[in-house]
Amino acid sequence: MNNNLAVVGLQWGDEGKGKIIDILSAGVDVVVRYQGGNNAGHTVVKDGKRYAFHLIPSGILHPGKLCVMGNGMVVDPLALLHEIDELRAQGVEISPRNLRIAENAHVIFPYHRKLDGFREKIRSNRIGTTGRGIGPCYMDKYARSGIRVGDLLNPRLFLSKLADNIREKNGIYRQVFGYDGFSEEEIAREYLGYAERIKDFVCDTVSLLHQVWEEGKTILFEGAQGTMLDVDFGTYPFVTSSNASVGGIFSGTGLPPKVLGKVIGVAKAYATRVGEGPFPTEFKDAMGDLIREKGGEFGTTTGRPRRCGWFDAVLVRYAVQVNGVDELVVTKLDVLDNLEEIKVCVGYRYEGRELETFPFDIDVFSSVVPIYKTFPGWKVDTSSVRRFEELPSEAKAYLNFISEFVGARISMVSVGSDREEVIFVD
Ligand code: GDP
Ligand code: IMO
Ligand code: MG
Repeated sequence: MNNNLAVVGLQWGDEGKGKIIDILSAGVDVVVRYQGGNNAGHTVVKDGKRYAFHLIPSGILHPGKLCVMGNGMVVDPLALLHEIDELRAQGVEISPRNLRIAENAHVIFPYHRKLDGFREKIRSNRIGTTGRGIGPCYMDKYARSGIRVGDLLNPRLFLSKLADNIREKNGIYRQVFGYDGFSEEEIAREYLGYAERIKDFVCDTVSLLHQVWEEGKTILFEGAQGTMLDVDFGTYPFVTSSNASVGGIFSGTGLPPKVLGKVIGVAKAYATRVGEGPFPTEFKDAMGDLIREKGGEFGTTTGRPRRCGWFDAVLVRYAVQVNGVDELVVTKLDVLDNLEEIKVCVGYRYEGRELETFPFDIDVFSSVVPIYKTFPGWKVDTSSVRRFEELPSEAKAYLNFISEFVGARISMVSVGSDREEVIFVD
């Protein structure tokens, strides 16, 4: 048994992972992101000050912790430099001493962002992506035409790979989308400039992570997005292009499965989703606006209003299975404080049948009717509660039901956005 832990989202992202990772980072030495890119937006509130993370692990607020952007990530250097500047302006120390970037992570280029937009326009069913070029960058990775962070530091290799890509993209984009084309020289100049600014952060993170592991240091793996956005296990095709669930850790860092001691799954006390795709428990009435306002449910990355709905225990139970969740963290309980009653989805009805699991067919999943179990609300402010026993009995009943249904013990309950607003459950 070891103390290394993973923190993963169990819904459609934005579960409050950033806040939980910030808290748990205090007890680890190294924080590693293993997938995704700046489609992620993790918010941490410390002493009333708000910090937004997109690429940099949320552990960076703790001085002395090493933060690693693993090889499974896709890195937009412009977004990264922007984030570094913003965090530094807020007083956060960022240097190669506490931030390292995998040389074999893939780089996002303007032609990826462009294609992300083009594909959204021509699809009959938009995904509602973040438009950051995430999917197209992973496409190039798997097509073996991607350019990696380390390639930027070898101008000869970089320019030759870039030339191949520009030739291919310009040909296709012109034919299919009527786009004028990208200037190879401009992109080369721009990216060689970025290379100069990021080179000191870039290294062989596989060796680095094995070294810290052998030294017995504790590692936290920071998941981005959530299991229902995982490209294999989520509501495909309305997903992101990486493995947000624990499986992504090993291919996304170079560390083996035995490194992982514990998996912590994070779920909101209700559900949200940004972008398109089925969402059976989505509120169809004024409740949506109420929860969106109370929960501040607007995207950290794109500012889009998040769709809101009741907690879907069927999906979370599935996510608990897929990730092998050892401990469940329930966030944003306080957002439900004023409600008369609260519902939890415990099954789906489809054409007169009852489904107990999440159906594969997206057409079926889009037309299921949730079966709810209704709980009385507690109508008490929970934001100042710091002990589980002190929660109103209705809130405890709600949480205990969720824990039992999804099959994971609750180790933390979050009752506000600040670092201090949390209940540790024995
Ligand atoms: P992440 O992507 O999973 O890290 O989540 P986001 O940061 O995108 O979204 C979660 C939002 O909820 C952020 O604005 C957090 O500051 C906020 N938040 C986190 N936990 C709580 C909580 O327990 N209560 C309330 N009211 N807000 C919270
Ligand atoms: P964090 O880490 C919520 C959603 C997008 C879209 C779909 C595909 O903050 O939880 P993409 O740009 O990845 O190709 O978009 O995935 N999405 C997220 N939703 N939180 C996120 O990250 C997300 N990252 C991507 O809205 O529906
Ligand atoms: Mg987020």
